[in-house]
Amino acid sequence: MVAEELLELRAKVAHHADRYYRDDAPEISDSEYDTLFRRLQELEAAHPELHDPNSPTARIGSAPVAGFEPHRHQIPMLSLDNAFGETELRSFDERVRKAIGTDDAVQYFAELKYDGASISLTYLDGELTIATTRGDGTTGEAVTPNARTLAGVPLRLTKPVPGTLEVRGEVVMLKSVFEELNAARLERGEQVFANPRNAAAGGLRQLDSRLTAQRRLSFLPYGVGFSQDAFAPSQAGALDRLRNLGFVVRSEGKPLLGIEAVISFVNEVQAMRAALPFGIDGCVIKVNQVDLQGELGFTSRGPRWAIAYKFPAEQAFTKLEAIAWQVGRTGNVTPVAELVPVVVGGVTVSRATLHNYDELIRKDVRPGDTVIVQRAGDVIPEVVGPVLDQRPADAEVPTAPTECPACQTALVRREGQVALKCPNRSCPAQIQSQLEHFVGRRMMDIDGLGGKLIARFLDEGFVSDLPSLYRLHEHRDKLVVAEGLGERSINNLLEELEASKTRPLPRFLFALGIPEVGERGAQDLARALGSLDAIRQADEPTLVAIENVGPRTAAEITAWFGSPENQAMLDAFWDLGVRPTEAEAPTGDLFAGQTWVFTGKLEKFTREMAEEVVRRWGGKLSSSVSKKTSFVVAGPGAGSKLATAESLGVPVLTEDEFLARLPEGTL
Ligand code: IVH
Repeated sequence: MVAEELLELRAKVAHHADRYYRDDAPEISDSEYDTLFRRLQELEAAHPELHDPNSPTARIGSAPVAGFEPHRHQIPMLSLDNAFGETELRSFDERVRKAIGTDDAVQYFAELKYDGASISLTYLDGELTIATTRGDGTTGEAVTPNARTLAGVPLRLTKPVPGTLEVRGEVVMLKSVFEELNAARLERGEQVFANPRNAAAGGLRQLDSRLTAQRRLSFLPYGVGFSQDAFAPSQAGALDRLRNLGFVVRSEGKPLLGIEAVISFVNEVQAMRAALPFGIDGCVIKVNQVDLQGELGFTSRGPRWAIAYKFPAEQAFTKLEAIAWQVGRTGNVTPVAELVPVVVGGVTVSRATLHNYDELIRKDVRPGDTVIVQRAGDVIPEVVGPVLDQRPADAEVPTAPTECPACQTALVRREGQVALKCPNRSCPAQIQSQLEHFVGRRMMDIDGLGGKLIARFLDEGFVSDLPSLYRLHEHRDKLVVAEGLGERSINNLLEELEASKTRPLPRFLFALGIPEVGERGAQDLARALGSLDAIRQADEPTLVAIENVGPRTAAEITAWFGSPENQAMLDAFWDLGVRPTEAEAPTGDLFAGQTWVFTGKLEKFTREMAEEVVRRWGGKLSSSVSKKTSFVVAGPGAGSKLATAESLGVPVLTEDEFLARLPEGTL
């Protein structure tokens, strides 16, 4: 009986996990999914004899292993030759045509070159049995429990494939995840990841797969290493078949006739590189037909039928004018490089983070140095290092500040942490950063209140802490006559503030700046506990039981809510009428099971309002268009998402058509 229930439950959870993570089109609510998942965890804990390594619970990781077993690849994992520039691509094409003895245009398959760590996944009769890193190309390391946590790795193929199938691809960290994890690391005073590639490669080699799961890595397949039976006649066919077996295959890759079409492709990809959700370092061009690939064969380095077209590095030289010390909202004091503005990868950079003092010393950068600046994995600009032979004779090693640049309080360094911290809770720079965070678009979303105005309000004593924002109206008379403000802008601001009092609870929680509680964490907390009161009162065991909340986060949350200052602050918010909306349940199921994408400018709604409406009616939002998208709402200025929707045949609505679908009185 139990065995049967377990099987059914596993199939059900696996189905819904795929609908959510792979297809971006859930059929049940998050809390229904959580309930199923917990039930499965409980059953499995009670029946260890019915263990299944490919149960969907494997996605969250399992107990650490002592070390990685070496694993010899059935077929070596080779590397690729590189081509820089069009000329080298044309020479590749000539070599290919000469080798197969044709003057005709060759059919290539051009795809993205994912910037991560390669991995090989072996399926036996459709079950994931072993996953290995590339290693030296001949022997890799078995990282199977880690691979089970990767988004886009089917634990079981969705169609029968008898015998052995070895799928190869790249493990990447999405740029959004990279930024989120680094922000959290910085906050905790930990070393940041240098770039998404290192974060992915390091994550893949964790002995504790629960830590791999926390990195939220993704798998992008690019081919088949070994297949018992002929897998597909072409690269295009292989990718299609992988898609059918449950892999997430990107849609950018395409078959192209002749090298000139390939050259246009690589240029197009380079232009849209920054808009991709993950880093790429070029394109890979493959001869499409497998029989031609066989004719071309391999050199000791790699296949003759494929080449990596590498983009030029996004680096530039500039002068480091000074090192400024910046105080963050939790008091961390971090160095920032002030640079002579320079264009890197199409973006002008004048400041770049140096993360912390240790990093500054390790890189040995000094004011006055000529430095190399790069956009790490085309995300945030960073200083790579100095050009030593251009160092001025008088360039001095920077010293770490001993006191806070804003309030002159002596800085402290917590045991075992790299961050310097200003311990003064009333430090004006901290309050400034806290206020800037609080009013941000993804938090309380108070339009018209930016850094400059906050600085001025703080300076003139109109605000002193977060709750005091909601007392600004008491200063209305003085504000409307203040230079450069005026009645209209003050009225607007006061209205914005008033409206923000009932923002959804997760936004309010995120806005408070509780250590370890980011946007996702705030959503998890609100969903699990329902009300601010319940969160205030939750003890550590209650918190640890919530998805994605570990012991450290739980400890930080209870410490934060336990502090008398924070309690007084929450009481002050309450007294001032701040009532975050706790209703998480959808208003109705009008959009249930649908995925919506908004693009371009909206005129009647703000983007946030429109998205909120979709969510309230049970719909899901996505930032990219795929076959799974139900509707795209496109306003003026809509670009590639509109084009993608049209090419995929996804229905496109104007803002008015969207409005017309809403029940009366929604706006
Ligand atoms: S095909 C025989 N396709 O790039 C080698 N590789 O520089 C076949 N990579 O080790 C590799 N994206 O880890 C291929 N679309 C793609 C790729 C890709 C990233 C990585 C791969 C390989 C390295 C070679």
